[in-house]
Amino acid sequence: MKVEQVRVLLSHKEIKEKVRELAGTISRDYEGKDLLLVCVLKGSVVFLCDLMRELKVPVEIDFMAVSSYGSSTVTSGVVRILKDLNTSIENRNVLIVEDIIDSGLTLSYLCENLLSRNPGSLRIVTLLDKPERRKVEIKPDYCGFQIPDKFIVGYGLDYNEKYRNYPDVCVLLEFESGL
Ligand code: IMP
Ligand code: MG
Repeated sequence: MKVEQVRVLLSHKEIKEKVRELAGTISRDYEGKDLLLVCVLKGSVVFLCDLMRELKVPVEIDFMAVSSYGSSTVTSGVVRILKDLNTSIENRNVLIVEDIIDSGLTLSYLCENLLSRNPGSLRIVTLLDKPERRKVEIKPDYCGFQIPDKFIVGYGLDYNEKYRNYPDVCVLLEFESGL
């Protein structure tokens, strides 16, 4: 696939401004509280890195890796934990950091799993949300952008592990006609 086959949907500058705005709201909400950011690998790492540097409250971070069975563009909803958290989340304020909510199946599984560990609180921040595609009811507490039903790459998001390093969020033109 050639590099030219993408169209910028959200520029890095737009994303940066939104991340700063989200960080402002989150910093106010968690002022004086202990906050643990749980990053869902791999797509969310770029967002995590930018978000945490804009936060004005002390945070700890931890990572989870999950894989959902299915093709590279469609989630099946069956989720397997590939890497679990290193820390206990009991009585802690946990904020899941997500790149994108699509069907919502991955996150709904994750929330259920994390809630069974008795966190003090559990919230979700997602940079991107595709509400049209939702299969289960799940609403992020903080959301950067609602986007149309297009397959996107960049700013951490991949197609077959490629494009994660693009600074902008882009639509893959290959998928434009079919959606
Ligand atoms: P869900 O379970 O359908 O909500 O999808 C969750 C995961 O699928 C996200 O965390 C992403 O890693 C991936 N995903 C969903 N939509 C896209 C997309 O448009 N581009 C790249 N990855 C996506
Ligand atoms: Mg992914």
